[in-house]
Amino acid sequence: MHLLSASCVCALTLASALLCQVAALETVTGLYGETLAIPCNKGAMKAEDVFITKWKYDKGDGLSGDLLVKQKNQNVSISATDEYKGRVSLAVNSSLLLSSATLADQRTFTCMEVVGADIAEYPVNVVVYKFPTELEISEQSEELEIGKLTKLGTCAAKDANPAANITWLKNNKPLLADGNEISIQTSVLVDPVTGLSTTTATLEYSAEKEDKNAQFTCSTRDAAGTELLSTPVTFTITYSTENIVLSVIAPGPLVEGDNVTLKCEADGNPAPTSFNFHLKGDVVKVENGDTYTITNVSRDTTGEYKCSLIENPSMEASEDITVNYLDINSSPSGNIVKRAGSPVIKKLSQQLSDDGLHEVLICDVEGFPKPVVSWSINGTLLDESAFVNGKITHKIKVVPSANLTVSCTVSNEFGSDTKPINVSSLNWKVRVDKQDQSDDSDQTKLVVGVVVGVLIATAVIGLAYWVYMKKSKQGSWKTGEKENGSSEEEKKLEEKVEENSQKAEV
Ligand SMILES: *[C@@H]1O[C@H](CO)[C@@H](O)[C@H](O)[C@H]1NC(C)=O
Ligand SMILES: *[C@@H]1O[C@H](CO)[C@@H](O)[C@H](O)[C@H]1NC(C)=O
Ligand SMILES: *[C@@H]1O[C@H](CO)[C@@H](O)[C@H](O)[C@H]1NC(C)=O
Ligand SMILES: *[C@@H]1O[C@H](CO)[C@@H](O)[C@H](O)[C@H]1NC(C)=O
Ligand SMILES: *[C@@H]1O[C@H](CO)[C@@H](O)[C@H](O)[C@H]1NC(C)=O
Repeated sequence: MHLLSASCVCALTLASALLCQVAALETVTGLYGETLAIPCNKGAMKAEDVFITKWKYDKGDGLSGDLLVKQKNQNVSISATDEYKGRVSLAVNSSLLLSSATLADQRTFTCMEVVGADIAEYPVNVVVYKFPTELEISEQSEELEIGKLTKLGTCAAKDANPAANITWLKNNKPLLADGNEISIQTSVLVDPVTGLSTTTATLEYSAEKEDKNAQFTCSTRDAAGTELLSTPVTFTITYSTENIVLSVIAPGPLVEGDNVTLKCEADGNPAPTSFNFHLKGDVVKVENGDTYTITNVSRDTTGEYKCSLIENPSMEASEDITVNYLDINSSPSGNIVKRAGSPVIKKLSQQLSDDGLHEVLICDVEGFPKPVVSWSINGTLLDESAFVNGKITHKIKVVPSANLTVSCTVSNEFGSDTKPINVSSLNWKVRVDKQDQSDDSDQTKLVVGVVVGVLIATAVIGLAYWVYMKKSKQGSWKTGEKENGSSEEEKKLEEKVEENSQKAEV
């Protein structure tokens, strides 16, 4: 890379005329530590045409130092006494060869040529570049915590000239400082001896979950645009638990006697490995495990269960456990309430429809979910209590006609249960016996009633006959036809009366 800057160089020579040349100050670039060839007049002159070639350099403060002189057909004479002694030589094309270039060589070197009667000077500006040999990431963070600005590492480009520009990259994409989630602090340190610059760029980075496998590198580009890349680094991304889930592991709907396992899972990196299980009041700490098993569950196991993080109890999850069960709780015989009234025999039929005579059977049941209650006989449902705490009371009214064994059956989808109960018909039988007796007396009454009825009927007929006879005697003046007709009716009536009186005699 040759930078050209226009300047007027006036060289005053002792020997001859004043020459003032307008020339572009040429710049040559050399690489640090290597041999630099500084051209004289761009190599335009042929060596055989040049009478004298002389190289000198600008010492600063208007002083100059001689390096070497070559006269035509003579050997090169090295006149350098200082730092250039042993480092300078002349190429065939009159270029000054300067070995082991350092930053101190960044100055103006001037070539003076005598060609014929002309004396010309060609100053050349020298720039020495040094690229960093490698980029190194140091002070690397062990892990990155999500959402927390953390010093990820420091990238160093050592001993460069000019100072290297460092770019941090994530997955080969440049990271730009935003003062919030990405912060890059760059500093340049110049070595007082060599003058070389060491650039460091410290990246502070607020990681995201997706950075789990992200590759971080730093890079710089040399003057030719060639990229120098560091070895990539990756980080463990840590984050605290955001989600916690409690699951209930059971083969199916729980019934008494089953085992049930509580499993607590929490995310985070590293994920927690120990948990507190809250078992209806009790807290059990499980270390290096995430499950807790409750064996032989009972209806008392039903309730709310929780798990939480030991370090952060506010991270918790809960789940309900329901244990299903079924049984008939109270004594299988239940309660028999006999409410037979005294043998108010005469009014028995009315008392039957009253509530005074029946038996009430009570079936107390416990079960979950709500069981269905049925009886082996048909009765009148008196009452079914509300279903509270898995308990239910079922009452029916029965009127047994014989000694019975009645059973109460309860069932839900987890099973069924049956209990028998002996219901005695003792009182009922007594009442039935009395009813039979009353039927007998009614029959007697009926027989008596029939006899009385016959007697009354006979009397009525007799009275009617008497009235008739009386009337027919009064109507004797009537026509013969009529009289004949009447006499026939008379006969029939007489026959009837005869019949009735015969019956009456019976
Ligand atoms: C002059 O010669 C040197 C060494 O042989 C070489 O490196 C340089 O490129 C030459 N310069 C020109 C201008 O030809
Ligand atoms: C399960 O619990 C019941 C009542 O708590 C008990 O009677 C039974 O023996 C237990 N069974 C086992 C296998 O522990
Ligand atoms: C209950 O009554 C129904 C008809 O009402 C009858 O079909 C059933 O057999 C009766 N059950 C018993 C146990 O008497
Ligand atoms: C009914 O049971 C009672 C006592 O349990 C007994 O005295 C009576 O004879 C029984 N009645 C019938 C009809 O079996
Ligand atoms: C019902 O009566 C029978 C015989 O009368 C007896 O064997 C049985 O134990 C009784 N059942 C109950 C529940 O009392």
